[in-house]
Amino acid sequence: MSSEEFTVTPWSVEGEIDYDKLMVKFGTEKISPELEARIEKITGEVHPMLKLGYFFSHRDLDKIITEYEKGNKFYLYTGRGPSGKIHMGHLLPWIFTKYLQEKFDVKLIFQLTDDEKFLYSDQKSMEDVKKFTEENILDIIAIGFDPKKTKILIDTKDIKRIYPIALEIAKRITFSTVKAVFGFENSTNIGMIGFPPIQAAPCFLPSIIEGKPTQVLIPAAIDQDPYWRVTRDIAEKMGYPKPAQIHSKFLPGLGMQGKMSSSIPETAIFTTDDDKTVDKKINSTFTGGQPTVELQKSLGANFAICPVFWYLRYFFDTEKKSDERARKCKSGGLLCGECKGNLKDATKPFLKEFQDRREKAKDIVDKFMFE
Ligand code: TRP
Repeated sequence: MSSEEFTVTPWSVEGEIDYDKLMVKFGTEKISPELEARIEKITGEVHPMLKLGYFFSHRDLDKIITEYEKGNKFYLYTGRGPSGKIHMGHLLPWIFTKYLQEKFDVKLIFQLTDDEKFLYSDQKSMEDVKKFTEENILDIIAIGFDPKKTKILIDTKDIKRIYPIALEIAKRITFSTVKAVFGFENSTNIGMIGFPPIQAAPCFLPSIIEGKPTQVLIPAAIDQDPYWRVTRDIAEKMGYPKPAQIHSKFLPGLGMQGKMSSSIPETAIFTTDDDKTVDKKINSTFTGGQPTVELQKSLGANFAICPVFWYLRYFFDTEKKSDERARKCKSGGLLCGECKGNLKDATKPFLKEFQDRREKAKDIVDKFMFE
C-alpha cells in the first residue's frame, strides 16, 4: 500500500488517513465555524476536542441543535465492541460524550456489542468476550456518566429490548447493500452479515422508550459511519427520525500509523497500566523525530505524524501550549525526549485517578444496567 492510500471500515483502519477525502467518500459534513458557534451558545465554550478538530465531521448535527433550541431534547447513543482492554484512545470520545450529556442534560444509551466481537474473531470464545465486557463496563462507568441518565446495553443480555427493532431493520436491508457498505465477502460468516441491524437498533430505541419520535446523536469514530448510513436510509420509512452523528478522528497508536490497537499491546496505554509500564511504553514509542540529535536541531522534526504530540494535544496541553510545542518541534528547538517526559509526567497521575474511579465503579454497576 502506498502512503497515499487508506482504507476505513468498522473493522480495519489502514494507511495514512486523509480525513477530507474520507468525508467526501462517506458523504459527511465538516463541522463549520457557524455550527461550532451555535453549540458554544448552549455549552458556554468550544470544547477542546471540537476546537482542535478531534471531532471534525457530522451528519445532521445542525438539526439536533435546531430542535434543542426549540426545547426538544435528543438522546446520545454510543458503544464499544468488547474485544480487549480499554486504552487511552478509547477514552477520548467517551470523555466528550460525557461532556455532551452534562452540557445538554440528556440521556445516553451505551451499547456493548459482545455478539459482534465474538463473531468477528476466530480466536475469541464467548467467555473471553464476556470477561472483556465486564472489565470494559468499569472503564465506561469510571468516565463519570450520570447513572440516572445512562443505560448500558449488553447485546446478548438485553437482546429482547432490541431484537424486535433489529428484525424490522433487517427486513429492509439486502445482502448486496451490506456487501457494498461493509465490504463483506462470500467467506464472511453469516453471523457478521446479519449483525448490522443489531448495532442499528439502538438508534430507534429512544423513540420506543419515550413513546414518540426522538432524535438520537451518535458520537463515534468515523469508522462506524457505515452503520449509520444504512440506518439513515430506512429510518423515515420506519417512522423514526434519522440518527445524527458527530464523528471523531482516530487517535494514533504509539506505533506507526493507524489507530491505537489493543491487539498490539506495546502501542497502547491501557487504563490499568502502572507507572513502570507507562514509562516503558512511552520511552519506546515512535515519534516524528530525526535519527540523531544533530539532524533534529538542524532540520526540525515532524509533529504531525508524532503520536506523542497528539496525545499531549488531545489529553493534556492547552491549545496555546500545543501550538507552541508544534512550532518548536518543527524548527528543531525541541527534542523528543522532552515531549516524552511531558507525556509521562501527565499520563501517570491521570491514570492513577482513573484507576481509583474504576475501582469505585464496581459498586455501582447495577445502576447502569437495563433490568
Ligand atoms: N461496533 C463498535 C465497536 O466495535 C461498538 C458500537 C456499538 C458503537 N454501537 C456503537 C460505537 C455506537 C459507536 C457508536 O467498537
